[in-house]
Amino acid sequence: MRNEYISHQKLVLTKVLKKQTAPIGIFDSGIGGLTVAKAVMEALPNEDILYFGDTARVPYGIKSQETVRKYALEITRFLLDKGVKMILIACNTGSASAKAEIIEMAGEVPVLDVITSGSEMAVSFTKHDEVAIIGTLATVNSGAYKKAIHQLDSAVSVQQKACPLFVPLAEEGWTDNEIAQKTIEIYLSGFKNSSIDSLILGCTHYPLFKPAIEKYLHDENIHIIDSAESIAITAGQELKSKNLANTSGGNFACFVSDQPQRFQELAERFLGRTIYDIQIVSL
Ligand code: DGL
Repeated sequence: MRNEYISHQKLVLTKVLKKQTAPIGIFDSGIGGLTVAKAVMEALPNEDILYFGDTARVPYGIKSQETVRKYALEITRFLLDKGVKMILIACNTGSASAKAEIIEMAGEVPVLDVITSGSEMAVSFTKHDEVAIIGTLATVNSGAYKKAIHQLDSAVSVQQKACPLFVPLAEEGWTDNEIAQKTIEIYLSGFKNSSIDSLILGCTHYPLFKPAIEKYLHDENIHIIDSAESIAITAGQELKSKNLANTSGGNFACFVSDQPQRFQELAERFLGRTIYDIQIVSL
């Protein structure tokens, strides 16, 4: 009887440990979600991360909701099959198109997304209830940010601006050259001398332009919101509360659907670390 009890306890413990040491799955259409991966590495250095960048099908932001939903669900299935313990949708477009379906597919595996985190941050930061969001065409057209912000506080006014050229520029590594600066000026000139006090970077590629955007808006009183930090903090809290936190990990593995060398080059430059584990997969 006692032996049976001990082996049952051992089994329970093994299962708990297996769950705790499972990786966190993070995905985006390309390198943008690395802004979230970086924040998670900094906030939760003992967690293993599995990153998926859909480099064969980037950009998502100019595609239909149905297409992005299909891609996002294929990636979710892939990550679940890899045994992730949590999924971070590090793609605003994917979140705007498929959040509910991803949550449903993930079942018991918790899912966090950048739109929820960004909206929460914006509502807590804005003093004048005037927020702007910049994002892909698909994210802007979905109205997902407006909806999420108004669910938190219906008094906040939300302006939106699609900036479709930022994604190809970021994938090219052009985030602070003359072309990037001119593009920023054209897209963001409407926010100069405006009443907004918070600007949400509503695409995970956009934080790569943060220094150049800050330079451009330097004399404005606008708080720039990048949801990467806040999603990383929420992920940590959630893992702790569910007894899923890892104390022995810290590995980073990448999967891409095309061009691993190109992705690796940009990713290593951005993350400031060598990526040893990068594989190409077709979904
Ligand atoms: N970085 C993604 C987002 O947050 C997708 C951008 C794209 O592929 O167009 O929306």
